[in-house]
Amino acid sequence: MKKVLLINGSPRPMNNSQKMLNIFAEAAKKFGIETEIINLEKMNLGMCKGCLACFKTNKCFQKDGLNELVAKMEEADGIVVASPVYYGSVTAQMKTFMDRSGLLGEAHGRSFRSKLAGSITVARRWGHLGAQTDMMLWMDRTEMVHVGCGWCSATSTNDNDISSDEEGLQYPVRLAENFARIWNLEEMK
Ligand SMILES: Cc1cc2nc3c(=O)[nH]c(=O)nc-3n(C[C@H](O)[C@H](O)[C@H](O)COP(=O)(O)O)c2cc1C
Repeated sequence: MKKVLLINGSPRPMNNSQKMLNIFAEAAKKFGIETEIINLEKMNLGMCKGCLACFKTNKCFQKDGLNELVAKMEEADGIVVASPVYYGSVTAQMKTFMDRSGLLGEAHGRSFRSKLAGSITVARRWGHLGAQTDMMLWMDRTEMVHVGCGWCSATSTNDNDISSDEEGLQYPVRLAENFARIWNLEEMK
């Protein structure tokens, strides 16, 4: 059974990013794809210190769950990251996750290489491109294979709720379908 790890970079507990990931998870289930959501805010990850000790010891010295999360990423077949747009970029939670997991994956011999990956953004109004680019460049550097779905993003405008963006809410479904197509998985009846 294929497994996809879903990484939520929003600091808000019940949030638009979570909504998009839930939609992906529901759609993925139809193809027998297992998912697990990781909430970065709950982990309270420390920032990367740039010490590069991970290249010597194969682990990060910070005891905040990052080593265990990277182990989960290495076991997974795919990884989907979701972030709200903050000032035209990803959240600090997502950036910290990308820095630290990326470096540790490199220390492990580029261990995320050839995994399927997807990127989801939500915003009130503007800046998807910056945040998407941040996450896609991380995927490129870590040698994952980015799966498109026609731009996986949803916008809320004034009420801060993406529920009325019907087009945006369809993208995670299509993303899950594209994972399934690449893996040759049939929809289960
Ligand atoms: C510090 C901060 C910066 C933000 N910057 C932007 C921005 O540049 N563009 C935008 O459209 N929305 C911006 N927003 C709004 C969020 O992207 C939007 O509310 C998003 O849906 C929140 O996602 P969440 O519900 O998953 O936390 C910002 C919000 C905060 C708190």
